[in-house]
Amino acid sequence: MNALEVHHLKIWDGLTGRVLVRDSSFNVKYGECLAIVGESGSGKSLTCRAIMRLIRAGLRQSGSILVNGVNLSELPEKEMRRMRGRRLCMIMQNGMRAFDPSRPVGAHLRETLAVHGKRSREEMAVTLKKAMESVGLEDPAAVMSRYPHELSGGMLQRIMIALAIVLEPDVIIADEPTTALDAVTQYEVVEQFVRLRSRTGSSMIFVSHDLGVVKRIADEVLVMKDGEIVERGETGDIFSGARHPYTRYLVSSKLTLTRHFMQVMGGHGGVES
Ligand SMILES: Nc1ncnc2c1ncn2[C@@H]1O[C@H](COP(=O)(O)OP(=O)(O)O)[C@@H](O)[C@H]1O
Ligand SMILES: [Mg+2]
Repeated sequence: MNALEVHHLKIWDGLTGRVLVRDSSFNVKYGECLAIVGESGSGKSLTCRAIMRLIRAGLRQSGSILVNGVNLSELPEKEMRRMRGRRLCMIMQNGMRAFDPSRPVGAHLRETLAVHGKRSREEMAVTLKKAMESVGLEDPAAVMSRYPHELSGGMLQRIMIALAIVLEPDVIIADEPTTALDAVTQYEVVEQFVRLRSRTGSSMIFVSHDLGVVKRIADEVLVMKDGEIVERGETGDIFSGARHPYTRYLVSSKLTLTRHFMQVMGGHGGVES
């Protein structure tokens, strides 16, 4: 069985009828990480949001999405809300937007855990503190008392990862979680994602521009272009023998960036390794 199955996902603009994602079908196996790559505007974020049932008003979706065999399209909104957080967790590009700007991040974390957590409040407070320390947030109490705008993008991503460690969702969807970060922070956050996977055993969708990151974290890769999946395969095969010209273009054009990333990473995870 698969942790996540997407069958014939179509997303379109209800007003204009413009089709944004044509007909996507893919699976994420238990404990595996699927990367979605593709140029800006190819439909990666819409795909993620559609899985969460969070596409914006005006857009429509069809097709079926199964998490652990449960068909999300058939769930009432109330149950869907419980799925989010408990079984499905999304980590977005801009950590700032994930948090309520008017409250300290600790308030948001405690509330999320109260709604979705699987254990008692006290237990979760202890687990959260440990999780925050484990992702390099050295003074959890101080961090929790801060407002989102007082924290860096890297710190906010770490907080989201700590939250995912505590929630242990079945599927984690990370939509370009490192894109807004500088190279060094990017490296550190990617390493935290790698550890997150091994700790929680969660399945993961990881959207990224950066093929160096993809190589480090993903088991399989989907390549999207203009709302369609143009190539898919195991990560190693995509790097060594991409069939679609667009994928080959991505692999070659990202080599320079990837080399830089490899230097920062001290050698592991690049295209050539
Ligand atoms: N709310 C919306 N209404 C209309 N079109 C949208 C909306 N959100 C995204 N789109 C369009 O859908 C396409 C895919 O967007 P998106 O999934 O965000 O791309 P990306 O691959 O960069 O994440 C783009 O052409 C974008 O302009
Ligand atoms: Mg996007």
